[in-house]
Amino acid sequence: MKYAICVLPGDGIGPEIVAQAVRVLHKVGEVFGHAFACETHLIGGAAIDATGGPLPVATLAAAKASDAVLLGAVGGPKWDAIDKAVRPEKGLLGIRKELGLFANLRPARLFPELAASCCLRPDIVGQGLDVVVVRELTGGAYFGQPRGEEMRGGERVAFNTMVYAESEIRRIAKVGFETARKRGKKLCSVDKANVLEVSQLWREVVIEEAAHYPDVELSHMYVDNAAMQLVRAPSQFDVIVTENLFGDILSDEAAIITGSIGMLPSASLGAGGPGLYEPIHGSAPDIAGKDLANPLATILSIAMMFVHSFGLTDEAAAVDKAVAEVLREGFRTGDIMGGADGRRVGCVEMGGLVVERIRR
Ligand code: IPM
Ligand code: MG
Repeated sequence: MKYAICVLPGDGIGPEIVAQAVRVLHKVGEVFGHAFACETHLIGGAAIDATGGPLPVATLAAAKASDAVLLGAVGGPKWDAIDKAVRPEKGLLGIRKELGLFANLRPARLFPELAASCCLRPDIVGQGLDVVVVRELTGGAYFGQPRGEEMRGGERVAFNTMVYAESEIRRIAKVGFETARKRGKKLCSVDKANVLEVSQLWREVVIEEAAHYPDVELSHMYVDNAAMQLVRAPSQFDVIVTENLFGDILSDEAAIITGSIGMLPSASLGAGGPGLYEPIHGSAPDIAGKDLANPLATILSIAMMFVHSFGLTDEAAAVDKAVAEVLREGFRTGDIMGGADGRRVGCVEMGGLVVERIRR
């Protein structure tokens, strides 16, 4: 089969990690007999520098015409000082919205090989750590209107609106239930229903949807408690479904307790059309261009692309296995050294090690 991949390296370490993921993509193509035609486009700060805006028309058109999008990361201090309206992050938010990618799957699992870099006590992680955060991605305070800043009574006032329509809640709840159904059959819906009307509606709609999934055990948790439970007893979670802002925060927390934010992939999916795959970490400008970045989250995002966009489960398993093998053999980028006596490698070498281990 032939697949068209829209590649958006972005800023900071984005180009380095994406380059390694693309090598893996081509190796899988070679071994399994697929052609992955990659076309690279600008997004984020790199796009601002070249075109004046973070999401050029050509990028959006190419993404829409592709079979899947692979993204690195956007943003950096270089663009912090410029006009608020053209921040690099707007490119990422814009492409999510334009492609209708309302469901963001962020699996956080602890590779046993990396237990030493996990920041939780061994007796806590001993029970295992394998959570998927299903984050709503195109609604809530990120996109709600009205938003802005204005003068009121002689001072600056800024505001955002956390808003959800019933249909938006229902479709992400379905993704939560479906994801849980394929795993441990436990879904925890996280909200702030003790304070926010939007969370009260969220909870009502999730409970309505539960009627279609009698095989999935549904629970509810307030977001403050969920943040605490994730570090106190993370093994109680299977799948978490939550709104955009809560999901942004909880998925970083879920990521770091697995050892490194440099290990976690993500898939952003809509109701058809291309999905977008990216590591959950940011552009890490402090280490950009130094061959220090961990490419594994981006490489694992390729595996998610194979599953969710192409149904290529053997190919996905080959990538997951190659990554596990590299870790088992003791190869580590700086972020996952964790005091263990692994062999320290750079971004390019790490990519090459995975490529060498891709087999049928
Ligand atoms: C993420 C990031 C983005 C977000 C930023 C870069 C806009 O933190 O993907 O989690 O807030 O969604
Ligand atoms: Mg985030």
